[in-house]
Amino acid sequence: MEDSRIALPIGITLDRFIKRKQEEFQYATGELSQLLRDIALAGKVVNREINKAGLINISGAIGTQNVQGEDQQKLDVLANIRFIRALTKGGEACAIVSEEDEEITDLKNQGRYVIAIDPLDGSSNIDVNVSIGTIFSVYRRITPVGSPVKKEDVLQKGIEQVAAGYLLYGSSTMLVYTTGHGVYGFTYEPSLGEYFLSHSDMIIPATGKTYSINEGSYNGFPESVKSYIQFCKDNNYSARYIGSLVADFHRNLLKGGIYIYPPTTKIPNGKLRLLYECNALAFIAEQAGGIATTGTQRILEVEPQEFHQRVPLFIGSKEMVEKAQSFHT
Ligand code: AHG
Ligand code: MN
Ligand code: MN
Repeated sequence: MEDSRIALPIGITLDRFIKRKQEEFQYATGELSQLLRDIALAGKVVNREINKAGLINISGAIGTQNVQGEDQQKLDVLANIRFIRALTKGGEACAIVSEEDEEITDLKNQGRYVIAIDPLDGSSNIDVNVSIGTIFSVYRRITPVGSPVKKEDVLQKGIEQVAAGYLLYGSSTMLVYTTGHGVYGFTYEPSLGEYFLSHSDMIIPATGKTYSINEGSYNGFPESVKSYIQFCKDNNYSARYIGSLVADFHRNLLKGGIYIYPPTTKIPNGKLRLLYECNALAFIAEQAGGIATTGTQRILEVEPQEFHQRVPLFIGSKEMVEKAQSFHT
């Protein structure tokens, strides 16, 4: 456990928490703090839209596909717009790469941070009133401030993240994030329009009895993953799979568990995206005492080659991920 972790009282507002953290760690110059506030604000706006799903015309497919050939839902596009707008107005981010966009959005400002974002995670759950989320990573830009943003500003390893987090639009809405000094969770109180610290210095149990994997794809799994699933069954583990990575990860973070999106014969690198999904959750998992690997390599050390790169993901309680990996030959 790092000495720098600070116990702040449950119930303080996100704004006050960020301010206290900034004073105590002097991280960045206040810009990172502002960036986190911008993301939190966009999260409120997206939360408001999501809560209207079913009432106004924002459910369903929009009729277009993203760069990865996936059908875009109206809320995918809307959330993307909301986050880009909030980050553009804030001015601390100089560039955004999003799961929904083919190329970098260069904001052409003096910002020092690059954001990678999955604006709406769990698209297939939007129309059925099941938890969905937003995932984000923050990096320092490498090239000089004010110059055009380059690929290398974006293609950084996960270990270079200065902050990462997610919003979970679940039975309550939560913001969970880390700046590398522990993991903190805030619950949104809609009538007050505020996030309050509800989960201080989150630690994932070293082991658990829940495994999360889409077993519908079982026939295409590697033998090592099939063996691990058999191990889970032999030990009477529970299967829990929501189909929204954020929600599955969050449950396992609180209760202990493992989430696996393995390589399959159809998709040899798995489905999840290194930049928009895996790196952020890997940073959080490690900060909470868990681990995240591709099955063979630490996620945070994978050198990204392209924006939309996919990697297999084994993430969660340390002992469970280690056990799953032990089946690899
Ligand atoms: P997205 O909605 O951002 O495309 O992400 C969906 C991801 C992830 O949230 C989830 O865990 C996984 O896709 C589910 O995939 P399967 O339906 O293949 O299990
Ligand atoms: Mn996603
Ligand atoms: Mn998405």
